[in-house]
Amino acid sequence: MHSVWLLAVLCLTLYSAEAVKVGDKFKDSGKCKACHSHIVKQWENSWHAKSHYGNDEYFQKTIDYVARKDNRKSLNTVKIECATCHNPRIAVTSTSDEYEAIASLQLDKDSAATKALQSDTISEGINCVVCHNIDQIHDNLPENKRGIDRVTWMKSGTMTGPYSDAKSPYHRVEQRPFMDNNPNQLCFVCHANDTSSEEHRFTDMKSEFNADGKQCVDCHMGARKMGVASTLPGSSGKPTKRLIREHGFIGAHTEGMWKDALQVKARKGAKGLEVTLINPQPHALPSGFGSREIVIDAQFLSAGKVVKNESLSLTSHYLNKRGKPTIPHLSAKTVTNLSIPANASKTFTLPLAIGAENVDIKVSYRLVNDEVREMLELKDPIWSKKMMIKKLNLKL
Ligand code: HEC
Ligand code: HEC
Ligand code: HEC
Ligand code: HEC
Ligand code: HEC
Repeated sequence: MHSVWLLAVLCLTLYSAEAVKVGDKFKDSGKCKACHSHIVKQWENSWHAKSHYGNDEYFQKTIDYVARKDNRKSLNTVKIECATCHNPRIAVTSTSDEYEAIASLQLDKDSAATKALQSDTISEGINCVVCHNIDQIHDNLPENKRGIDRVTWMKSGTMTGPYSDAKSPYHRVEQRPFMDNNPNQLCFVCHANDTSSEEHRFTDMKSEFNADGKQCVDCHMGARKMGVASTLPGSSGKPTKRLIREHGFIGAHTEGMWKDALQVKARKGAKGLEVTLINPQPHALPSGFGSREIVIDAQFLSAGKVVKNESLSLTSHYLNKRGKPTIPHLSAKTVTNLSIPANASKTFTLPLAIGAENVDIKVSYRLVNDEVREMLELKDPIWSKKMMIKKLNLKL
């Protein structure tokens, strides 16, 4: 037992959060455009490209809120903690009590922390040299060590990829299994679990994942298809044909992805209108980040006129240590969790309307539920937009 502990401590000191400088030649996606322009374009439209403080209103306002409510931490300290997964190429990975003292007096303008947060190396969020510069992923570390704390970086200038026979005049290449036949290992570096400042685990995608061999990339990067990895002509005078994937990482923010993401069945039961949601995906829905929401809207009709509207919100609610509603990152407790588990179904019952002849049922998804949207005063319409999953009409 003792030696296991010692080993764990040793691993932590060896591997935790070692920042390796990214050379200027590789630090932003613009440097890859000359030969990988199609991939850069796809990635630019992805939410990985928006994961930085300046590019995602929800992320930004969550950080501001945490820093405002948790008076033990300065804004920069919260930003650095979140950078663990959102900006893993950051040069400073933790702050000290001395730093907090200086920051509280606003004397930290020239500090390493402030400079690291302002550096253009991290302004692109999860860019090419986050995923393609990982040398090793340390799955022997505790489950809560994620992002920057779970990886060791390559020397700057070596790109890891799926091919064992690639050659590039611009950078060295190395093949890794997490770029080829085991990509879930890469996604789980960050998409595994997250814990609040009260040590409450508010999301746990890795433990809920139920996949029989399915890979995240099959659905969120699409199937492998013929194309080119680089547009630079090879020795044949033409670019090498390769099996490649899309770099859009499309997901919850894209309305089209939600169409038919769940199957929906409805019937008139003894206690009311029974709506069954069947989730064929290998993770729960909603899943991932807390306060996502699925909404069931039922509009009861008689002779073509609306007689009643019913609505049910399937979301998680969180309480802080004083028992007040809060956001996931400050929570001590999850009070309700109405997600549909992976490869499973749940039935919800809504009251019927007297005299209704039929009912229009709409099942849709929202990125942020009303409670958290109001707490954070989110403005962009994307956060409240209902994205359609399925519509159906039932005769009663
Ligand atoms: C979130 C992680 C991630 C990010 C960010 C990322 N990639 Fe990839 N990339 C992958 C994975 C996984 C594969 C392997 C796909 C497969 O199964 O073939 C890959 C494959 C590639 C390939 C091989 C061809 C292909 O499409 O399979 C190239 C070239 C590449 N990426 C370049 C880039 C560039 C340039 C950027 C930045 C604009 C980038 N990648 C950003 C994860 C990432
Ligand atoms: C001057 C052209 C050029 C530039 C600029 C360039 N690459 Fe490449 N890259 C290539 C070529 C050529 C290949 C090999 C393609 C093949 O064999 O199909 C390649 C392969 C790759 C691979 C796949 C490696 C493997 O073993 O599977 C990745 C990942 C990659 N590049 C990432 C990047 C990133 C990230 C950047 C920007 C920081 C970048 N490249 C800039 C030309 C370039
Ligand atoms: C370095 C950490 C990290 C890694 C590695 C990573 N992601 Fe992400 N991913 C994030 C973060 C952070 C976000 C949220 C960004 C935002 O919304 O601002 C995200 C968002 C997403 C989304 C949501 C997009 C949307 O529109 O809702 C998908 C899908 C996704 N990632 C898939 C993947 C896949 C597939 C892999 C593995 C190939 C992967 N990610 C690897 C951190 C990571
Ligand atoms: C069989 C296909 C499939 C696989 C495999 C899969 N997903 Fe998904 N995922 C979906 C669908 C469909 C949705 C709902 C629509 C959307 O957001 O794309 C979704 C939603 C998501 C969301 C948003 C969830 C929400 O409620 O806001 C995230 C994050 C995500 N997936 C990440 C992952 C990660 C990480 C993996 C691997 C561990 C993975 N997915 C594997 C199909 C898949
Ligand atoms: C363990 C890795 C990790 C850490 C640390 C982390 N996040 Fe995230 N975060 C993610 C991943 C992965 C996603 C995408 C999941 C999804 O879309 O469901 C995400 C998504 C989000 C989103 C949703 C963004 C959107 O556009 O919908 C917000 C807000 C957010 N994180 C806030 C934070 C804040 C604030 C911190 C620091 C207090 C933080 N995160 C720390 C991994 C992390």
